[in-house]
Amino acid sequence: MTERLVELFEASQGAFLSGEELSDKLAISRTAVWKRIEKLREEGYTFEAVPRKGYRLIGKPDKLDPAALVTRLQTELFGRRIHYHQEVESTQTTALALLAEGAPEGTLILAEQQTAGRGRQGRPWISPKGKGLWMSLVLKPAGLPISCTPQLTLLVAVALCRAVRAETGVEAGIKWPNDLLVGGRKISGILLESRAEDASLQHIIAGVGISVNLTEEDYPEGLRETATSLAIEAGRPVDRMQLLCRFLQEWEQLYKLYLEQGFGPVKLLWEALTVSLHRTIRCRTPQGFVEGYGEGIDDFGALLLRLPDGTQQRLISGDVEF
Ligand code: BTN
Repeated sequence: MTERLVELFEASQGAFLSGEELSDKLAISRTAVWKRIEKLREEGYTFEAVPRKGYRLIGKPDKLDPAALVTRLQTELFGRRIHYHQEVESTQTTALALLAEGAPEGTLILAEQQTAGRGRQGRPWISPKGKGLWMSLVLKPAGLPISCTPQLTLLVAVALCRAVRAETGVEAGIKWPNDLLVGGRKISGILLESRAEDASLQHIIAGVGISVNLTEEDYPEGLRETATSLAIEAGRPVDRMQLLCRFLQEWEQLYKLYLEQGFGPVKLLWEALTVSLHRTIRCRTPQGFVEGYGEGIDDFGALLLRLPDGTQQRLISGDVEF
């Protein structure tokens, strides 16, 4: 019944609904309407109440609701099975355990908080409660060689960048290979962990961390200069459920396109969304720093740098610094 009440308020798009109207539509007494509105208030909904006009919905709780997510999702596979947790060490670790129990492709692990979220190269990933999207998705790209993993990494970044731009209007850009930046500061990180047999991919656990509604205070001091959140950049809170739905939809569409047509379409999109090309960049590689002009990426997703001596260097891993 409270769900139906929320639906009525959502359909009214911010207009007032009188107690009488609501009691007619729901076929309950006006006292029962009032009790249900109070219940919704306790759950974090906010209403404006004006005598003789009624109630108007002005705010919803930012809850990740797996049941609602399943009904809102427009995907075939991605997120059709959801494992939702209040707290985990890392969604990557939870995903690995689920894989051992036979979790199928598209299984999504979602947590409100991670106590030991991890980033690339063993770095910790700040994942405060209720403020972000901390998630891992199970992929089983049948028969793909392990050498395709970098392409899939870029694919996730493209899907996320498109979703962020569409849902928030924030002009995020991709830093090679797969960080999302806004104004030079990081809003998201992607970590792909895979298992292969005979150089053929068995599974990938694609971990994505999106700093959605974090405030400056959520970041330790050392990170404030280099990290930001969508809410900080958009100047308003961002609906995590809506962003997640859009992201999974973009991701699944692009993944299907990739399996049918290969890396070509993803490469074009990545090049259009990156902030790492057509400028001089410095890259920290396992062998040390390299500086050069970002010319492009190749068909494997490697970065092509033109060095000051005119030679070209191909980088398959590293951290870009501007
Ligand atoms: C990076 O930029 O270093 C990658 C960060 C990846 C963080 C996400 S949050 C969800 C998933 N679980 C983890 O422990 N890490 C990834």
